[in-house]
Parts: sequence; C-alpha cells; structure tokens
Amino acid sequence: MKHRSPPPSSDEASPVDSGLGAAEFEALRALIYELTGISLNDSKRSLVEARLARRLRSLGMASYAEYCEFVRSDEVDDDEVRELINCVTTNKTDFFREPHHFEFLRSTLFPELEQRAARGAPKRVRLWSAACSSGEEPYTLAMTALEHFGGKGWQIEILATDIDTDVLARAKAGVYPAERAETIPGERLRRFFLRGKGEWVGHYKVRPELSQCVTFRRLNFMDADWGIDTKFDAIFCRNVVIYFDRRTQEALFRRMHALLDERAYLMIGHSESLSFLSNLFEALAGTVYRKRNTAAALPAVAMPSRSTRPDPSAPRADLKRQTITIGEVFASDTPAAVRTVLGSCVSACLWDPLAKVGGMNHILLPEAPGGEEHSSRYGVHAMELLINAIMHKGGERRRLRAKIFGAAHVLAQVSYAGSAPQRNAAFLKQFLEREQIPIVATRLGGSAPLEVVFHTHDGRALVRPVGGTLVADLARTEHQYGQEISRKVVKPTDEGDVTLF
Ligand SMILES: C[S@@+](CC[C@H](N)C(=O)[O-])C[C@H]1O[C@@H](n2cnc3c(N)ncnc32)[C@H](O)[C@@H]1O
Repeated sequence: MKHRSPPPSSDEASPVDSGLGAAEFEALRALIYELTGISLNDSKRSLVEARLARRLRSLGMASYAEYCEFVRSDEVDDDEVRELINCVTTNKTDFFREPHHFEFLRSTLFPELEQRAARGAPKRVRLWSAACSSGEEPYTLAMTALEHFGGKGWQIEILATDIDTDVLARAKAGVYPAERAETIPGERLRRFFLRGKGEWVGHYKVRPELSQCVTFRRLNFMDADWGIDTKFDAIFCRNVVIYFDRRTQEALFRRMHALLDERAYLMIGHSESLSFLSNLFEALAGTVYRKRNTAAALPAVAMPSRSTRPDPSAPRADLKRQTITIGEVFASDTPAAVRTVLGSCVSACLWDPLAKVGGMNHILLPEAPGGEEHSSRYGVHAMELLINAIMHKGGERRRLRAKIFGAAHVLAQVSYAGSAPQRNAAFLKQFLEREQIPIVATRLGGSAPLEVVFHTHDGRALVRPVGGTLVADLARTEHQYGQEISRKVVKPTDEGDVTLF
C-alpha cells in the first residue's frame, strides 16, 4: 500500500455522528477478510462499530463512510491498515490455557525427542505459537520446555507470531498484571517471573531465562511468504481458525503441514476441528493432531448397505433422549432424540447423513439486545457451537443438512421482541445460506409454539404445535430465558397433529 498521511489527529473525543451503516460494514467486512482471513458475520457489526469509534475520533473523522473510503483508498498507509487490523482481532488468551496440550508435550513429545536425541538427533525442541496474542501461550510453552529440558544442554526455540502489533508489543515486554498470572502456580511464578516493585507493584515480568527461549514477530497467515525456513516439532494454532471460513482454514493447515517435522504435532483450540483434513492429520485425543507422512487421501467412507439400515418406523429402544432449552446445544454420534419447545425462538437441526451425527440448538434471538456477544442464546455463537459439536463427533461440515423450526408469534406482549420471530427466521436462513448448508425442511412462523423432536442419526424431525395455557406461559418464560419451558407438560392442540419432517 502506498503512503498517504491521515487527516490531522485529534486527541479530543469528537463524536462520531452516525453509526456504521450496512454498506460500510459490508465494505469493511470484505476488506478485513482480504487482509486477515477473518470472516465477520452480521452479528459483529456493532462490535466493529464500537472498536473503530476510537480510531475515527483519533483520525478526526466524523463518519464511518469517510473512514471506509479512507482505508479502501490506494493511498492509505500501512500503519493505518495495521491499526484497522488491530481493532478487529480478538485476543483472548491465558497462561496454561487448555492445559492438556502442555501435559501432552511433557508426556509424549518431549520423551519422543529425547529418544531421537539418544539415536543421534540434535538436542533441540522447536515450537511455534502461531497467533500468540499477548504472549501467555509461548511463555507457557517456554516454562513447560524449561522444566523438562532445563540444564540438560537442550536448545529451546520457540517462534511466537501474531498479526496484531499491539498484542505483540505487550508480549515482547512480558509484563503482566497479577490477575493475568493467577493461572500460574506459585512455584512456577517464583522461578520464571520477577515481582514488580514501586510503580510496577501488582505486576510480574518474565525472567530472561524465559524470554530468551522465545522469538516474537509479526506474521499474517494471509501473507504469501511466511519467512520460516525451519521445521517444527509442534505447532500451536489455537483459537484462531474459528474466525476463518473453511477455505481459509484448509489453506492454512496445508501450509502448516509442510512446516511440521515428520510425525510432529498440531494443536488447535477446543472448539475447532481438523476432521475435514484427516488425510493430512491423524486425530489423537483432545484436539491434538499428528502429521501424517503421506498426503495420500484416505479411502472414502463406505455408505452402509441398505439392508443393514434400521427400519425408520420401528421404535428404538437404543435411542438416547435429551431435552434442550434456550441457549442449549446438543449433538450426538449415537442415535438420540433431542427435544425442545419453541415459541418465537428457533432451532436448527443439523446432521451429516453419512457419518450419522447430528444435533440441535435453541436460539433466543439472532443477536444479544445488550451486546452479550458470545452467549450461546444468540445466533451465530449458537450455530458455531452446534456445527463444532457435530464436527467433533465426526461429522463433516460440507455434508451437513438442515431443518429449521420455530419463530412463532407468541411474544406479542413482550416489547423488545415484537420482530423477534421474523428476525430469527431470517437469521437462520441467511446463516445457512452463507455457510452453504442446504435447508431441506422448515416450519417457521404461525402463532402456536412447536414441540420438536429431532433424531440426530437419520435427520427425522417430529413437529407438533402445542397449545393450552402453555402459550401465554411460554411467551413469558421465553422472555426470561425459559428454563421452565421444557419441564411443563405439553398439551398438543390435536393429538394426531404430528408432522414428520
Ligand atoms: C483468541 S487469540 C488466541 C491466542 C492463543 N493462541 C490462545 O489460544 O490463547 C487469536 C489471535 O489470532 C490472531 N490472528 C487473527 N488473524 C490472524 C492472521 N490472519 N494471522 C495471524 N494471526 C491472526 C489475533 O490477532 C489474536 O491475537
């Protein structure tokens, strides 16, 4: 990008006079995707607006339209592009986050490296914390490696990279407020950190023994050349691909595959999955994957023969039964009947017909009224949880099919939710369309709540309207996040009125 000076900055908080409109959000979303691979869905609009508001003020701009035009122009400078990227990344991290991965290094990888060293391989361990955020992850790797190899003449080389220059600066400084260090047991804290004094009271700084093991640098996964000419024994790429679409994830993991040593390991976050690349990575326990040495595709999974398929009309004694309510998600890889009762809420029932894995969620609204962004009661998060849960159990995203239900007008008396049913229905349709998950059945709208029973292994859905005193109750309870709903006896409006989807 060429250089152009931004308009004069102002430290004073000049008000931004209009919100982030749909067209500007669309343009920013496309730009952010192109720059970072991060896919922002509609629910992130208010988040982006809030995060960029300060940037606009410091640039002295009064509208998002002006900012949008500025960052998309050829003349914007690299610093401003970095500022934009820094604004949209999510940097949540912790010391010893998902601790089983560090336990795996101790119990499996490090002993394997020692055995290789005994056969003449160099005494060295090479780890990459890709998307390291503010440094907690690579310093945890350094502590784990030093505890194992310290004083035994081993070279510990940890590369730590991130796209966000703000978090990288914090990572390099290695100074953390005491509450960030709470997950570090006292003994380790004393060994690896200096306690702050004077103006630094209440802070800890990593000791040189730790920082010497780690090299920090900026790396954007989207860059054509990563400038890495080593192979790693393990790559930690955790809690970042959740923001990428499948195409971007695949390209990223293929590149990482090439940077792993033979039979080396790739760790991903607990809500992420690599099952769609099982020809490249073998799944071990707990989101640890081992590089397969041949990239040859595995034989396709055979379809079960027709004669072995159970008769769908036969009652199933082996069917696990589960009821979910607002904000809950349930998925199963064994035959299960998951049930819920919907008022203005919606449920997505997804399943992979080949793997016979499926599940259901129960969504209150497409987005949180008060900005409670990550609650599973709300749209995108609930959908991501469901899809991830199905993938964890062996389902393939590209094979998923959807049935969607709910969005009845039972909440007329509740003020905020007047348009909730329409918005819920529109959200589900748009989300599934964008994710290219075909919708094979719907029952949306109407004025009666629905009871839905979904069979996770074969995708059958039994749906019936419910009535009686439940309707008024449901409207109230749904508004209060409806924990009671599913416990009430559901009186059908008509005993025979069950529809099979
Ligand atoms: C939620 S943090 C995860 C931190 C750490 N891996 C963990 O699991 O605790 C995600 C990080 O990914 C980084 N990130 C997002 N897009 C990236 C990209 N295209 N290239 C490199 N890093 C990226 C963000 O800046 C952020 O710090």
